[in-house]
Amino acid sequence: MSANQISTRHLLGIKDINEQDIELIFNTAREFKEVINRPIKKVPSLRDITIANIFFENSTRTKLSFELAEKRLSADVVNFAASSSSVSKGETLLDTVNNILSMKVDMVVMRHPAPGAPAFLAKHIQANIVNAGDGTHEHPTQALLDAYSIYEALGDIAGKKVAIIGDILHSRVALSNIYCLKKLGAHVKVCGPPTLIPKHIASLGVEISYNIDDTLQWCDVANVLRIQLERQEIKYLPSLREYALYYGINKARLDKLSKKTVIMHPGPINRGVEITSDVADSEHSIILQQVENGVAIRMAVLYLLASRKA
Ligand code: CP
Repeated sequence: MSANQISTRHLLGIKDINEQDIELIFNTAREFKEVINRPIKKVPSLRDITIANIFFENSTRTKLSFELAEKRLSADVVNFAASSSSVSKGETLLDTVNNILSMKVDMVVMRHPAPGAPAFLAKHIQANIVNAGDGTHEHPTQALLDAYSIYEALGDIAGKKVAIIGDILHSRVALSNIYCLKKLGAHVKVCGPPTLIPKHIASLGVEISYNIDDTLQWCDVANVLRIQLERQEIKYLPSLREYALYYGINKARLDKLSKKTVIMHPGPINRGVEITSDVADSEHSIILQQVENGVAIRMAVLYLLASRKA
């Protein structure tokens, strides 16, 4: 049976939470999903809470999803984008956040390019911190919404075969997904070019494959990741065209399989590189369900952290 209180004050990574926490988040998200599908989509649960969304890196889905989740819970919301702030004048991360907290902020949702930035903040400030993606480290709410979407699509996660395909080396989504899916009992395989798969990854209990067609035949779910050229300081691939040829998910590849595969992608999609439009927009794709579930999952995380008793 799942606990009725989350075990941690902050959500810094999936590595730090347990299976009962994930179950509690899913059960709470299920109730909030029902709320956001009603004509009146708002509940007063966080009426006395102020949340700052501070984003030092670009975001479309995560930022909008958190903001919507906060508003659906009736929280007061302030948004901060580093590009239009005094960070460009040399202000430190801690000074920036302390200034925001002086305005009586209770929770901070933070995206930052440096791995560990949310953990650093959590050591220095009183507010609850939610990691909205820290460099190549973790993206916990993405993993939770991905796992929840698999649960909805397949009715279970334990025993299911999930392939994570693409740029594993630079992906915080891959790492958080691996932690989450392994805690929930799934079999996980990573697949991509050898240069984009870190050598230590097998120590997390995942299989490694460099063969995309074998991997697609093996898995129940293919979670397809973007090639993160912006994080690649050296050339890991001859070209994106070659990547698309050898590892891109297209209809011809899926048509060769003897079974149906659920297709996922955390976004943003590079159509024609890691996935073609006829797959991303097909009946097998649950990409937009992932986005919808993101709001309910983030409502659950914020609500559970805010209502946690010390
Ligand atoms: N999936 C994800 O994190 O997307 P954004 O970068 O647009 O937030």
